[in-house]
Amino acid sequence: MTEPVIRIAEAADGPALAALRRAWTAEQHGAVDDAEFEARFLDWYEREFARRISWLAEVDGAAVGMMNLAIFARMPQPGRDVGTWGYLANAFVLKAHRDRGIGSLLLRALLDHADGQRYVRVVLRPSQRAIPFYQRLGFAADHDLFVRHRPG
Ligand SMILES: CC(C)(COP(=O)(O)OP(=O)(O)OC[C@H]1O[C@@H](n2cnc3c(N)ncnc32)[C@H](O)[C@@H]1OP(=O)(O)O)[C@@H](O)C(=O)NCCC(=O)NCCS
Repeated sequence: MTEPVIRIAEAADGPALAALRRAWTAEQHGAVDDAEFEARFLDWYEREFARRISWLAEVDGAAVGMMNLAIFARMPQPGRDVGTWGYLANAFVLKAHRDRGIGSLLLRALLDHADGQRYVRVVLRPSQRAIPFYQRLGFAADHDLFVRHRPG
């Protein structure tokens, strides 16, 4: 198999990302009959594009994985650079391509970008199974966060 290519997704990559999202949903819940999903996804992708960077993994030109970072620029403060942080979301590699390091390549590319931009932190909520995956690249639990869930 050829080496995976990792790159930042462009505006035109919406359909490839939508196809990965559909494949992820099908893996979790079986095939879902929702003909409007792609249009909804492309609308979301266009709106999010200014503040969310997505990475794509491709093998032989086909998209096999993705990950994205939503950027939060903190309120400026006089005399200080308060910095920017990011929330990592939607990490997914097609089942047939898992456990070969593609997710780690995506994560490394994302973290290289975050470090290059001097983001103060990258935050995420891992699934139980993915905890070692994130720990290997330096993430650790931090319980300072308060969360309020929707009532009812
Ligand atoms: C998490 C994920 C993107 C990693 O991609 P990958 O290409 O398999 O990553 P790598 O080969 O670099 O690393 C493999 C590691 O991923 C983790 N992993 C493997 N299968 C997984 C799964 N079904 N779900 C979550 N994490 C998984 C494990 O930590 C594994 O290493 P380990 O077996 O030594 O603990 C991929 O497993 C996936 O798409 N999982 C399903 C979607 C998901 O759960 N996403 C949210 C994660 S917060």
